[in-house]
Amino acid sequence: MHPPRRATPRRYLMCPPTHFEVTYTINPWMNPAKPVDVPLAVAQWEDLRDRYRSLGHTVDELEPRPGLPDMVFAANGATVVDGRVLGARFAHRERAPEAPAHLEWFRAHGFPRVQEPVHVNEGEGDFAVTASYLLAGRGFRASPLSHAEAQEFFGRPVIGLDLVDPRYYHLDTALAVLDDRTDEIMYYPPAFSPGSREALRRLFPDALIATAEDAAAFGLNAVSDGLHVLLPQAATGLLEPLRERGFEPVPIDLSELLKGGGSVKCCTQELRSQGPPGVAGLTVG
Ligand code: ARG
Repeated sequence: MHPPRRATPRRYLMCPPTHFEVTYTINPWMNPAKPVDVPLAVAQWEDLRDRYRSLGHTVDELEPRPGLPDMVFAANGATVVDGRVLGARFAHRERAPEAPAHLEWFRAHGFPRVQEPVHVNEGEGDFAVTASYLLAGRGFRASPLSHAEAQEFFGRPVIGLDLVDPRYYHLDTALAVLDDRTDEIMYYPPAFSPGSREALRRLFPDALIATAEDAAAFGLNAVSDGLHVLLPQAATGLLEPLRERGFEPVPIDLSELLKGGGSVKCCTQELRSQGPPGVAGLTVG
């Protein structure tokens, strides 16, 4: 039996894909030869934003900047836990200017503890927050040194996980937190090194294990509020296992953004305030 499910109100930061395009390739999903339909990308993104709002969550919007086509993937711009903001430092120069844009937003919105990082980290692309841990990916983007930096800043135990498949270049393409009060996650084991797989098995023996098809449909790039799990609609194999565990899957069509190698979670940065989840905005902003 699963624990009772309860949605808690969240606060998210999102950035509209006004300037979205694929002009460079920094992950295997990006093909500049494939045209991008910006109005469609914007409509799909608005659908995700409106879905969050209709579920009772707060969505703040970051002003998109021309020349930064990946800025729509707002999850990468910072990590916010207990109201503390650790900025990003991007691995690729194409995305580097996104980091100061995020820092500026946090400073303008009254977040008292904002830290510019020394080591490369791409925000929630490689950091995932559970009740007990800060899970931290490495191998393609985040520097392993960023893990110690994050542990020191947030005061939460960091579990380093090695990513080995270039299609799953960020932790949030291979693992999603389903319940941040009970340490429940879902993930795709082949995206991780054998040792990291074993570590995940030890820490999360009851995790939902995704198939290759659902991982390839970006099904692990999902956002949960404790009850509703918003995920790419093509990841149909996850629907039943999620329902069996008491979650309510909410399929979202973000096919246009998949051309940039991102989906639901990549577009969504969670602004976690101090205290238990559900009091978003109480001590920050
Ligand atoms: N094109 C972007 C990149 O490769 C996609 C980022 C997706 N974001 C994420 N959180 N996985 O950096």
